[in-house]
Amino acid sequence: MTSAFFFNNIYYNTCTQQHFSIKALFDGNILSSVLNRLPPNAQVLDLGCGSGCWVMDMAIDYPHFQFIGVDMADMFPTAIRPENVKFQLQNILQGLPFPDNTFDFVHMRLLIIAFQKKDWPWVLSEIYRVLKPGGIVQLMESDFTEKTNVPIVEKFNNEFIKAMLDLEQDPWIGSKLSHLLEEQNFQVVELKEKYLDYKLPLNPISKEMLTNWKDAMLSIRPMLAHRFESADYNAVVDQYIDGITQAGWKVKLWALCGQKKE
Ligand SMILES: C[S@@+](CC[C@H](N)C(=O)[O-])C[C@H]1O[C@@H](n2cnc3c(N)ncnc32)[C@H](O)[C@@H]1O
Repeated sequence: MTSAFFFNNIYYNTCTQQHFSIKALFDGNILSSVLNRLPPNAQVLDLGCGSGCWVMDMAIDYPHFQFIGVDMADMFPTAIRPENVKFQLQNILQGLPFPDNTFDFVHMRLLIIAFQKKDWPWVLSEIYRVLKPGGIVQLMESDFTEKTNVPIVEKFNNEFIKAMLDLEQDPWIGSKLSHLLEEQNFQVVELKEKYLDYKLPLNPISKEMLTNWKDAMLSIRPMLAHRFESADYNAVVDQYIDGITQAGWKVKLWALCGQKKE
């Protein structure tokens, strides 16, 4: 299986602001149904943990839990980190290197351009396998496909969607997660939907997330730049970001959790 995730330092630098913005938008790092389903010494896995913001923030809030963050890029801190955190370099698509029934809680956030459409059921089945009976998975994904009447926003979003489809990824995965979880025998116990509203004046969360979106779009230059022919890609991204606020564009985020059968 392949993973087509383009990544660089621009994006790394904005992981922290993205993490705290999403935390503020969803009123915390975990959905309300998660905590009362976890034991006092929960074993927690974060898949595609990036620079490890979620893991380390959680590890400080829950010092009696043990955390493992997994990513195929080693952006996480190797020396200084909370004592209850470990990081592991691993491509999720090569299988999760853990025995069956290991974790009480698995978290996976913003992997929309990490996996091909066909990979999602398999990744969720791997999560099911490594969760203990009664264990919980929490997923969060966004959708950038909402239409606007601003041409540069439409052009850019359409090219992004086409690029994802060419790579056999799924731009609409957020809306399908609930169904995909049920197909893997999870019981969906909570679903929360939120919007990032890019209408001016931007609220503080939207302001942070728009900066982050711009950095993310710059970081996926190899995936998109050739689609704008001879245009200067940085200038295209600048116009796109201006267009987003003109359009008052909205981006939807889904957060949901599913429980493995007891
Ligand atoms: C958009 S970032 C999200 C980071 C983090 N989950 C967060 O919410 O802040 C996606 C992360 O997934 C990682 N990733 C992509 N494909 C992966 C794979 N096949 N195996 C492991 N990590 C992967 C990338 O390296 C990147 O750190």
